[in-house]
Amino acid sequence: MLDKSYPPAAEMVKSAHIDAAKYDKMYAASVADPEAFWGEEGKRLDWIKAYTQVKDTDFTLGKVKINWFADGTLNVAANCIDRHLADRASQTAIIWEPDDPKETAQHITYQQLHDNTCRMANVLRDLGVKRGDRVILYLPMIPEAAYAMLACARIGAIHSIVFAGFSPDALAARINGCDAKVLITADEAPRGGKKTPLKTNADKALLHTKDTVKCLVIKRTGGQTTWTEGRDFDYTALAQGAATTCEPAEMNAEDPLFILYTSGSTGQPKGVVHTSGGYLVYAAMTHQITFDYHDGDVFWCSADVGWVTGHSYIVYGPLANGATTVMFEGVPTYPDASRFWQVCEKHKVTQFYTAPTAIRALMGQGKEFVEKCDLSSLRLLGTVGEPINPEAWNWYNDVVGGGRCPIVDTWWQTETGGHLLTPLPGAHATKPGAAMKPFFGVMPVVLEPTTGAEIHESPTEGVLAIKDSWPGQMRSVWGDHDRFEKTYFSDYKGYYFSGDGCRRDADGDYWITGRVDDVINVSGHRMGTAEVESALVAHECVAEAAVVGYPHEIKGQGIYCYVTLMNGVEPTDELKKALRGWVREEIGPIASPDLIQWAPGLPKTRSGKIMRRILRKIAENDYGALGDISTLADPDVVENLIDNRMNRR
Ligand code: WT7
Repeated sequence: MLDKSYPPAAEMVKSAHIDAAKYDKMYAASVADPEAFWGEEGKRLDWIKAYTQVKDTDFTLGKVKINWFADGTLNVAANCIDRHLADRASQTAIIWEPDDPKETAQHITYQQLHDNTCRMANVLRDLGVKRGDRVILYLPMIPEAAYAMLACARIGAIHSIVFAGFSPDALAARINGCDAKVLITADEAPRGGKKTPLKTNADKALLHTKDTVKCLVIKRTGGQTTWTEGRDFDYTALAQGAATTCEPAEMNAEDPLFILYTSGSTGQPKGVVHTSGGYLVYAAMTHQITFDYHDGDVFWCSADVGWVTGHSYIVYGPLANGATTVMFEGVPTYPDASRFWQVCEKHKVTQFYTAPTAIRALMGQGKEFVEKCDLSSLRLLGTVGEPINPEAWNWYNDVVGGGRCPIVDTWWQTETGGHLLTPLPGAHATKPGAAMKPFFGVMPVVLEPTTGAEIHESPTEGVLAIKDSWPGQMRSVWGDHDRFEKTYFSDYKGYYFSGDGCRRDADGDYWITGRVDDVINVSGHRMGTAEVESALVAHECVAEAAVVGYPHEIKGQGIYCYVTLMNGVEPTDELKKALRGWVREEIGPIASPDLIQWAPGLPKTRSGKIMRRILRKIAENDYGALGDISTLADPDVVENLIDNRMNRR
C-alpha cells in the first residue's frame, strides 16, 4: 500500500520562506559547498569580529574535531536581545503562561528581557561567576529560567539545566560532573496543580557537592524553605539592587554555551557540549524555516527548558529571530484536557510544537476538549521526540489542525542542536509518521547495520548516520572527548552515528523506526536502560537487574524491569512498590518502572553477557519469535520468564 501523502497547501507555498524549487536549489548548494553555504548563513548573527573561517571538521576516529566560524567572536545574549532593541524594544519577546490559568500571564518585552537578563547577569557576577564557569539551573518553567540562560551567555558562563523532574541525587551528579560554581533554583515548581519542592531537593543535593557551591534562590510560590546562611542567596533581594545594564562578553564562536546531560546506552549520563556561534546560527535558521516563522507570529513550543527542545525552540532560536515565544509552566491536562488549546486561543498561537506522547494522551480524552476552543490562529503544527503513530498524526491533523495546518515531524537529538530531518511546510508533502527530508547542509545516510556499508537505493532500511558536520552539532562530551568519539564515531567509521534505525521509502523520504541501542524513549524523555539498572542494583535486596523498553499506548515506551533478588529475599508486591520508589529517588519520577518481573535468573550467553534481545521480546509479549536460544548458558530461565511475563495482552 502506498503511504498517504499530503501536498503542501497552495497558500502555504505562496507565503512560505522556502518552496519546493528553492529547497532543491538551496539543498544542492548546501551539500555541494558547505563552506560557501554556511559562510552566507552565518550572517544571520551579529558578530563582534567577523569570521574568516567557516568549516573545520573531521569525523575520523581518533581525531574527531568540529569547529565552525572558529575565528569569529560574538555574544549569544546580545544576538537574542540587544540587536532587536532598536526595532523591537516594546514587542513581546516571551509570553509566560502560568500553571494555574487563574494566575495572570506575563508579556515580557525585549526591553524587559534585556533589563531582567542584565540584572541576573550582574547578580551572578557578584556571586563570583566568571567566563567559562559552570552554572546549574534547576528551575520551574518561569521567565527567570530564560533570564538565567541568557545571563550566563551574556557573561560567558556555561549553563547546564537539570530538568525539575530529576531527583536530588541526579542533580548532585550533574553539579559535580561539571564542577559548577552556582546552582540557581526556586522555592517550588508548580506543575499540574502540584508543587515540586525544588529548594528542598537542592538542599539534599548540596550535601553531596563541594561546600563552595552557592545557591541562588528564586521566589516562585513563596513556599517555605530552609536557609543556609552564607550559601543561599535570595534572588529577589539581590536583583532589586542590581543594574539593568551589563556589557556582553566577547566570546569565541567555539566557546561553550551550554552543557546538557543526556542518557546513552552505557554508563551515567554524558554532558553534551554545545558552543556559541554554530549552535545559534543553526537554532535560528531551523526555527525560522522549519516552522515558517514570520514577524508577528506567536510561536509556542510546549517543551520544558530542561530538554534541548526548550533550549533551541523556546529560547535561543526564537529570540535570535526576534520572535514572540510562549513559555508554559504547566501540563497539557491541567486543569483539564483542553489546556493546550485554551492557551493557543488565549495567546493566538500561530505555530504549535509538541510531543507525540502529549497528542496521544489528549486524543484519548476526546475531541470535545479541542473543539470548544477557537484554534483559527494556528497555521502550522510540529512534533518531536519520538516516532508519531499515524493514528495520532491523523488526529493532530484533523482535529487540532482542522486539515489546514501542515505538520512538521522533526527528527533530531540533544546532540544535533536542531532539526536534521523534517518536511518544510511550503516545500514538501507530509506523510503520517515520516520525518521526510534532510534540512539544509544535512547529509543523512542509511547504513547496513552489520557491515556499515552505505545503501544508496530506495526503498531500504538500516541505521541512520550523518556523513558530514552541520553547525549545530555537539562538539564534545564535557570532560571526556574520548567518550564523544567512541559513542558517535566508532561503530561506523567516518560517520556520525545517531543510534536510530530508519527506513527510506521509494520516494526517498525518511522514516525513523526507533533506537537501535539500549536507549529507550519514555514519554519523549530519553532514558538509558543502564541507568535504571544501576539504580536497581544499588538497592540492598537486588542482586541483578535488566531493563528494557516495551510498547506503551500513551508513553510510547514503558520501562520493563527484570529483577533477581538476593538469596533469601521474599518477592512481594510491597517490595515492588519499594523498588519503584527507590528508582524515583535515585533518578527521578520520569524513570519510574512500569512493570517489574521477578527473575530467578537472566538469560545469559556462556560468556555471561545478558541476552537483551530475548528480554525485549518477552517484554513485548512477542515470545513466539525468540530466535535462537541454544547459545544460552541455561535455556530454562527463558521458560520461567515467559511463564511469568507481566505484559500479557
Ligand atoms: C531521540 C533523541 C530532539 C528533541 C527531543 C528528543 C527520538 C526525536 C523524533 C522524531 C522519531 C524521534 C530519536 C532520537 N526522536 N525526534 N521526529 N521521530 N524519533 O531529544 O532526548 O536527545 O532524544 O529521540 O530516537 O534519537 P533526545
